[in-house]
Amino acid sequence: MREEKPDLDTAYALETPDDNRALYAGWAETYDATFAQEMDFLMPGHVARLFDGHGGDGPVLDAGAGTGLVAGEILRRRACDIDAFDLSAEMLAVARSKGFYRRTIEGDLTAPLPFATGSYNAVVSSGTFTHGHVGPEALDELLRVAAPCALFVLTIKTEHYDTRGFAGKFAALSPAITGFETVQLPIYGPGATGDHKDDQGVIAVFRKA
Ligand SMILES: C[S@@+](CC[C@H](N)C(=O)[O-])C[C@H]1O[C@@H](n2cnc3c(N)ncnc32)[C@H](O)[C@@H]1O
Repeated sequence: MREEKPDLDTAYALETPDDNRALYAGWAETYDATFAQEMDFLMPGHVARLFDGHGGDGPVLDAGAGTGLVAGEILRRRACDIDAFDLSAEMLAVARSKGFYRRTIEGDLTAPLPFATGSYNAVVSSGTFTHGHVGPEALDELLRVAAPCALFVLTIKTEHYDTRGFAGKFAALSPAITGFETVQLPIYGPGATGDHKDDQGVIAVFRKA
């Protein structure tokens, strides 16, 4: 396992789940202040707004939930049951301390998920489908654990949408999903600084058929 220094460049340079565990173990306590607030991280709010606007309902699976920023944004808009799933025990400990989640579950999105088929009425994810984190292969299991008509709202870093196979994966999944649409939005707000301040994200919104 590599020793990682917690910042955005290091996050984008990760390669394996063990790299992710090492980085986020050291970042969990300061992630909200040194990343989300300093970079004016907009994706959790974008996801919650789209979830709410499309009539999303619980139980919700927050895939790569981290410290719980998406749940905080959803719960500001509507009450619902949300489960957090993440590779990092330390990120989940911070999420749990906020009291947002029904359950927090440690696990790997690139492996078979520990949920029964059709368990969730929605799947949301912010900041996790990106280079060095989770690729499009995770979508098959997320679809399996979703109920028929479940709403998906997933962010994908724009520069990886085509090059890392997300566009092709969504095309291949078209018989299994309905109402597929994408919107491209800034990942960071006006308060962001540094090389990544103008980065864009694709948000894919669809329902399981
Ligand atoms: C940039 S953070 C985003 C956290 C949160 N969703 C947010 O918007 O602030 C990425 C998260 O993905 C998690 N992660 C990375 N690889 C993963 C995997 N294979 N399975 C589950 N979670 C993973 C990390 O532990 C980390 O908490």
